[in-house]
Amino acid sequence: MTSITLSPSGQCVPVADGDTVLMALEKGGYALPNNCRAGACGECKVRVLEGQFDQGFVMDMALSQDERKQGFGLMCMAKPLSEKLVIDWGMADAAPKLFPPREGMPYVVVEKIVRTPRITEFQLMPVGTALRFWPGQYVAITAPRPGATPRHYSLANAPRADGTLVLQVTRVDGGATSAWLHEEVDVGGTLTLSGPYGAFIGDPKAETPVLCLAAGSGLAPILSLTEAALKRGYRQPVTLVFSARAEEDLYASGRLAYWSRLHRNFRWHATLTRESREGRLHGRIPDVLPGLFPDLSKHSIFIAGSTGFTEDCLAVVRALGAQEGLLHHEKFVSQRV
Ligand code: FES
Repeated sequence: MTSITLSPSGQCVPVADGDTVLMALEKGGYALPNNCRAGACGECKVRVLEGQFDQGFVMDMALSQDERKQGFGLMCMAKPLSEKLVIDWGMADAAPKLFPPREGMPYVVVEKIVRTPRITEFQLMPVGTALRFWPGQYVAITAPRPGATPRHYSLANAPRADGTLVLQVTRVDGGATSAWLHEEVDVGGTLTLSGPYGAFIGDPKAETPVLCLAAGSGLAPILSLTEAALKRGYRQPVTLVFSARAEEDLYASGRLAYWSRLHRNFRWHATLTRESREGRLHGRIPDVLPGLFPDLSKHSIFIAGSTGFTEDCLAVVRALGAQEGLLHHEKFVSQRV
């Protein structure tokens, strides 16, 4: 039977007849980043260390001749020709390897959308090579002001074929970078990014029910993780609970409703902390969660929001039986303004 060995972990994945390397990895529970699944975006690029494969038809812009010579291939189209293929994948324990961050990547703002009174969304497209990232990671932006320091913003989308990035920026009182982004950066302008950073990516090969808890623009990395999981056909139940002060602070509800229509395993709830509305929960997530999930001992849990929100959620999910190894959290500390 043909197999793929992941180096350096030595873990092995069988390949069924006709399957690409990407399909085999996914069936084996390994979530290699991918996007177009058609040899056009380069997202699934991996170095093959041993063995032969048929690359199939892929575009030069996704895999250059130089990269081919160095042994790289696009796994969405690659099919093994030899019985054993060894690929460079992950760390010694097969955990995903992060992409090395790059600096000074120019992106053009193609859309600027006011999502709530405090959150504005920027949709960006790359001028040069697109950023490669794992869902849940963030980028750094520095305002062009004397003495300005980099500020961090989570990516709110899964990797896309055209390289689009989505940022959701909360306006913070006294925050120079967020004020600059909200007031001065407009459609057609250029932003220079560095990244990707962060390891809020969980374990892409975990096969457990998933619970995501988010408040404010903490929703951004949760949207990225959820979009990626649903796109790759994650089968376990995925529930997202989003907390906002009032109805006007809720955003992305159209997208969440769409996902829940499209994917029977996806559900979401909104809870409002400062107003009551029909069809919405009322109260902070730590207060409403025990009523929704009395037992969290089997869930992978992702939490993103302010430090206080994250700490309070961690306390309640631990009290509901959450396992430490399945807990992932991203605190938006005050420097992320
Ligand atoms: S996912 Fe393989 S090239 Fe796009």
